[in-house]
Amino acid sequence: MKIAYLGLGRMGSGMATRLLTHGNALTVWNRSVVKAQPFAELGATIANDPAQAVRDVELVISCLFDDHSLDEVFHAGSDVLKAMRQGAIHLCVTTISPECAERLEALHKAHGLRYVAGPVLGRPDASAAGRLVQILAGDASAIAEVTPVCAAYAERVVPLEGAASVANSVKLCLNFFIAGLMELISEGLTLGEKSGVPREVLGGFYEGFVAPPGFKGYARRLTAREKESEVGFAMVAGRKDLQLMQDAAKNVECPLELADLIASRMDAAIAQGLGEMDWSATQEIIRQNAKL
Ligand SMILES: NC(=O)c1ccc[n+]([C@@H]2O[C@H](COP(=O)([O-])OP(=O)(O)OC[C@H]3O[C@@H](n4cnc5c(N)ncnc54)[C@H](OP(=O)(O)O)[C@@H]3O)[C@@H](O)[C@H]2O)c1
Repeated sequence: MKIAYLGLGRMGSGMATRLLTHGNALTVWNRSVVKAQPFAELGATIANDPAQAVRDVELVISCLFDDHSLDEVFHAGSDVLKAMRQGAIHLCVTTISPECAERLEALHKAHGLRYVAGPVLGRPDASAAGRLVQILAGDASAIAEVTPVCAAYAERVVPLEGAASVANSVKLCLNFFIAGLMELISEGLTLGEKSGVPREVLGGFYEGFVAPPGFKGYARRLTAREKESEVGFAMVAGRKDLQLMQDAAKNVECPLELADLIASRMDAAIAQGLGEMDWSATQEIIRQNAKL
């Protein structure tokens, strides 16, 4: 399939590589060109701008950062929407708000295009290894067409009925679970350490309590206090997601007190210069509060 891939950050680069190795003809674009260049060697065409990338392809996959970046590239009357061919599909992988997804879905429909929300679960290592889980919602005919393509980077695809924004709401609820799990493990490790329990002892138990490999990875990362985000999820990106959860909760009048607590820890971490560390570095704030 002729595909345009927009956004070659931590997550996007792994997915784009796998799409290429699975025989798709790929045109790639990244805002800062340096991340796009290595893809030429893999056989991709490098586009100078997003409008050039999407011209003549059947499927556009975007993995940008947030609502703002999507609105910037896919706004009403944008060159990108005008350049897409009639009936083409936009699969949006970015974690965005349900409101932004609603905007995008309407905008694509108005331009004769098909929109699918496809947020993913899994970190950059899972992206590169084809082990992501992808939640799809939106245009039903488009979901049927993209599902086999997603198999290049996702080991499980979960199609949902209803508006595209449903997939984004599911993603926020699932990320809430992960953020809560990190809070739980971090507080437990900190209490243990204050009480003279070796971190590895508790960490081993916690790892055994959770089944999926990704969650075990969080238990290991927290036990080892591994904070680098090079191959992970940056604190600033995690804070963006916490804000999405807080806003979504406010919109439906559903208090989400744990999200408020974790967001405040992230604010403290960012204020201390940990914004580019992995989001699990909220543990450092918990440790500091315990005078460790
Ligand atoms: N990392 C994870 O573990 C993980 C897991 C699941 C979902 N996600 C979600 O996946 C998305 C990408 O995450 P990531 O970790 O890959 O982030 P990342 O490494 O920071 O990559 C972000 C990408 O968005 C581009 N971008 C940012 N602002 C832009 C703008 N205004 N216009 C155009 N492009 C823009 C960046 O371009 P430049 O290179 O030019 O900055 C880069 O390609 C986020 O929504 C995140 O929440 C991440």
